[in-house]
Amino acid sequence: DKKDSLKGKKVLITAGPTYEKIDPVRFIGNHSSGKMGFAIAEECANHGAEVQLVSGPVSLKTNNPNIKVTQVTSALEMLKATDSMSSSSDILIFSAAVSDYRPSSPVSTKIKKESSTPPTIDLTENPDIALTIGKKKRKDQYSLGFALETNDEQANAEKKLEKKNFNAIVLNSLNDEGAGFGHDTNKISIIGKNKKHLDLPLKDKRSLAKDIVKYIIDDL
Ligand code: C5P
Repeated sequence: DKKDSLKGKKVLITAGPTYEKIDPVRFIGNHSSGKMGFAIAEECANHGAEVQLVSGPVSLKTNNPNIKVTQVTSALEMLKATDSMSSSSDILIFSAAVSDYRPSSPVSTKIKKESSTPPTIDLTENPDIALTIGKKKRKDQYSLGFALETNDEQANAEKKLEKKNFNAIVLNSLNDEGAGFGHDTNKISIIGKNKKHLDLPLKDKRSLAKDIVKYIIDDL
């Protein structure tokens, strides 16, 4: 039965952007709304799963009793929270738009506009959460990631599928109108390790979440 198809399964989902602190009032971030991750969380919960949602700063909320939200701000916090729950999870979904870099030494007082030359911000690479967890993924665990590509989309997505040890990857192209960040709609393809390839038409993120979760259930 559809309502029970993920019963007893623990699903861990990352969602939203990360904010990387520059000083007490400024950060490096991105336009991720968290909509896709929250929609997938709702859909998994509707199938009976116990969902842990690790989310960066977003304006979304959920009242679903089967979804527990852990709010984080930075990539390092997101890694810590996700890593601590990964081994006890059956299904891992990486939908967060994690900042690739963070300021190397955030300052504790507001940077002032007093010198004649603009300041420079020295950056350090953030850990790749999906890659870190992918390296220790067990055979009984299933993972799905996302890729946002502007060129050589299929090939780049397949490379990420392999490198991050995903079972499947959702490819969304920024070239499609109405797709991606901030929009309520998205146009995606799902590429599986099993080579099962599914192209979906432009539709709202809630119905795409249904398609993605159905793909996972069929693939388990
Ligand atoms: O390499 P790229 O950033 O395109 O990979 C995207 C996938 O990897 C997404 O599933 C994203 O959530 C995940 N990711 C991550 N940690 C990072 C960067 C990406 O979990 N630091």
